[in-house]
Amino acid sequence: MSVLQGKKILLGVTAGIAAYKTAHLVRLFIKAGAEIQVVMTPASKDFVTPLTLSTLSKNPVHSTFYSKEDENEVWNNHVDLGLWADLMLIAPATANTLSKMSNGTVDNLLLATYLSAKCPVYFAPAMDLDMYKHPSTEVSISTLESFGNILIPAASGELASGLVGEGRMAEPEDIFSFIEKDVLGKLPLKGKKVLITAGPTYEAIDPVRFIGNHSSGKMGFELAKNAANLGAEVILISGPSAQQISHSLVQRINVKSAAEMYTEVHKFYSDAHIAIASAAVADYTPTEVADQKIKKKGSAMEIVLKPTKDILASMGALKKQQFLVGFALETNNEVENAKGKLVRKNLDLIVLNSLQDKGAGFAGDTNKISIIDTKNNISEFPLKSKDRVAIDIFTEILSRLDA
Ligand code: CTP
Repeated sequence: MSVLQGKKILLGVTAGIAAYKTAHLVRLFIKAGAEIQVVMTPASKDFVTPLTLSTLSKNPVHSTFYSKEDENEVWNNHVDLGLWADLMLIAPATANTLSKMSNGTVDNLLLATYLSAKCPVYFAPAMDLDMYKHPSTEVSISTLESFGNILIPAASGELASGLVGEGRMAEPEDIFSFIEKDVLGKLPLKGKKVLITAGPTYEAIDPVRFIGNHSSGKMGFELAKNAANLGAEVILISGPSAQQISHSLVQRINVKSAAEMYTEVHKFYSDAHIAIASAAVADYTPTEVADQKIKKKGSAMEIVLKPTKDILASMGALKKQQFLVGFALETNNEVENAKGKLVRKNLDLIVLNSLQDKGAGFAGDTNKISIIDTKNNISEFPLKSKDRVAIDIFTEILSRLDA
């Protein structure tokens, strides 16, 4: 999965011959799962048609503030476009547009949008080699860099003029991977390892029966997805769960029993920066597992259980650099019980679900949580879908990692 999945990208196209390559660029972004809106300068429409770009981007192309020909035309709001975007890319960026951007000139929709954009702005210059080397262009580029805009350097090669040298717009694949790497490099959990336990455990009674619980694993999987979206390398250790996950930064390890989960967790825990125990681990397991299927008898039967190891408590006991987060599912005396677990298991945060709250807990798609920290601060959240809850949990973690 690309880090650009779900990102809102505003592509500004200016009047250079390389504009025809933006068709391919738009396809690359769409394939990565990004949302694209295109703003064109009026002159760029001579190099690539708005129809091509609107078809590929699946959105109308914007090029004027309004159209005099169309009676129903509405004002094209550059402020809205600028605010909509997670990132803006100007490609190709001609010498003319670079100069206007660096001077704050606004004589078309693209430039007005550029000035309104609050997001990171990338620009990929494209021009003849002498124009690229001209001190005036160099000044424009360094001025834009001083504004925090990000240069995607032009490449060397044969230019449309027939001259050979620097000035060619970087190839669409190169622009795409430049932005992907840059976005990834700036993610808050880049370079961090996150360990997450998820799902139920199954404690075998005999070859066909087990003691389990109703945990779906969804909360843990949403946490794993969110951690990966924030740039972390994620180890997701899951008990039996129907949940699916596909992300290049997530390694899923399937286990069945509490004992297997314990073993896998301790293979990865010492290197982890953040560990979150969202699994509903069985507290007890049969003392003996029958080799053969147990036959029914007329009389009552007993299964003797022994306690499992508390995986989270074992992580707390060994804690060094790890930021450790646990879950507590309570029915009564919720806050006091959760605080007790936070201290007993040496946690940094505990996420409390109360079974008294409708929609909370481990089987459904929603959750209602409170988060308690070591200073007894309690943040309460309303009922939300589990993907939103995962975002809230990581927001709380990140704010404490920085502190
Ligand atoms: N947990 C764990 N290993 C266990 C049991 C629990 O890692 N064997 C973790 C859960 O993943 C969760 C937290 O511990 O993050 C809370 O577990 P819970 O079962 O509620 O707490 P207990 O200490 O077992 O207390 P009680 O059963 O009395 O509520």
